Amino acid sequence: MHPSSKLPVAILGATGAVGQRFVQLLANHPWFEIAVLTGSDRSIGKPYGEVTRWILGEPIPEKVAGMIVQPTTDVADVPIAFGALPTESAVEAEPQWAANGVYVCSNASAFRMDPLVPLLIPEVNPEHLGMLERQQRERGWRGAIVTNPNCSTITIVMALKPLHDAFGIRRMFTTTLQAVSGAGYPGVASLDIIDNIIPNIGNGSEEAKIETEPLKLLGRFEDGAFRDARIAISAQVTRVPVIDGHTAAVSVELDAKATPGEASTTLSEFRAPAIVRGMPSAPERPIVVRPEADRPQPRRDRDLYGGMGTTVGRVRPCNLFDLKFVALSHNTIRGAAGGAVLNAELLVAEGLVGNR
Ligand SMILES: NC(=O)c1ccc[n+]([C@@H]2O[C@H](COP(=O)([O-])OP(=O)(O)OC[C@H]3O[C@@H](n4cnc5c(N)ncnc54)[C@H](OP(=O)(O)O)[C@@H]3O)[C@@H](O)[C@H]2O)c1
Repeated sequence: MHPSSKLPVAILGATGAVGQRFVQLLANHPWFEIAVLTGSDRSIGKPYGEVTRWILGEPIPEKVAGMIVQPTTDVADVPIAFGALPTESAVEAEPQWAANGVYVCSNASAFRMDPLVPLLIPEVNPEHLGMLERQQRERGWRGAIVTNPNCSTITIVMALKPLHDAFGIRRMFTTTLQAVSGAGYPGVASLDIIDNIIPNIGNGSEEAKIETEPLKLLGRFEDGAFRDARIAISAQVTRVPVIDGHTAAVSVELDAKATPGEASTTLSEFRAPAIVRGMPSAPERPIVVRPEADRPQPRRDRDLYGGMGTTVGRVRPCNLFDLKFVALSHNTIRGAAGGAVLNAELLVAEGLVGNR
C-alpha cells in the first residue's frame, strides 16, 4: 500500500545533525511532504535556513530554507512526526504528539526499551508493529511511538539477523569504531578527537545500548509481548576520527557450526520481507559482503545504496568463538534519519497510517 497523495510530516529537532538528514531525505520523498519543523527556544520563530548550521554537502532544499521553526510543544495536525530530539526533550514531547494522533518515528533512546514500544528495523522484525494496538489501548494514545535502534546496534543487528536465523547466536563480542557525527553537532571537540581514539561514549551508556537492544530486535513478538532473544553480549565502544560511518568488529559463537563461506553466503542471500522491498528507502540488498581483505571502510562503503546498505567483510574463523567479521553502515542515515524514514514507510505500507 502507498499513499494516494503525499502525507504531511513534521521533523522534531530539525536543526540538528539528524534533523538535517531528515530534511535531506524527505525533501523529495515520494510519499512524504515536510510540513512542520521544530527546534528549541534558540530557533523558534526564525527561518530554518537562518538558524541551521547546515553541515551536509548539498545546499538546504529551497522550499525548506524559508520555513519558520515551530515550538516542539505545539502538536501539529500531521499523521507522522520524525523525532531527532535529545533524549530529555523526546521524553516530554513524543508522548504528547502520540497522544494527539501522530505516529512518531523516534531516534532518541528514551522509549527504545519500553515494553510497549516497537524497536524496529523493517528488514529484521516488522512483526513487532503488532504491539501498536496494545500501546494505543494502554497508553490512551490515538497515535503511537515507534523507535529505531542505536546507530551501532543497527549495523551489528543487520549482520546478526541472518546468522541468528540460520545458525543461532549464543554469544557475541563487539568493538565499535564510531564516527564523530554520532555525537551530533558540534559534537566532540577537535582537540579530543583529531589524532586520537576515545575508548568510551556516553560513560558506558552506549555499551549498555549495544548489549540490550539486539535482544529485543532479534526477539519474538508473541502473545502481545516482546520476548528477548537469549544471546550473551559484550560490547566495547570507541570514538574514532571518522566523520560518518560506524564500524563494528564482531565475534560470534553459534549454536550450529558454520564455515566462513556458509556464513558469507547466508549474509549475501539475506533479503527483506516482500512488503519492505517495495518501499522507497529500502536498499536494493540489505547486506553486501565484500570479499576484499581490506573492506569495509567508512569512506568507501558508508554510502552504499544511499547510505541505507550494510557492508560486511573479513568473515573468518575466530580462535575464541566461531566466526568473526567486520560490519559497517552510515550512522546518520541507516543508523538514524534513514532508519526512521524506513520505519515510517513500513507504517504506511502496512496500512497503519495513510491519507485521512
Ligand atoms: N547523530 C547520530 O548519528 C544519531 C544516531 C542515532 C540516534 N541519534 C539520536 O538522535 C537525537 C538527535 O541527535 P543529533 O545528533 O541530531 O543532536 P543535535 O545535533 O544536538 O540536535 C538536537 C536537535 O534538538 C533540538 N533541541 C534541543 N533541545 C531542545 C528542546 N529543549 N526542545 C526542542 N528541541 C530541542 C535542537 O534544536 P536547536 O538547534 O533549535 O537548539 C536540534 O534541532 C538524539 O536523541 C540522539 O541520541 C543520533
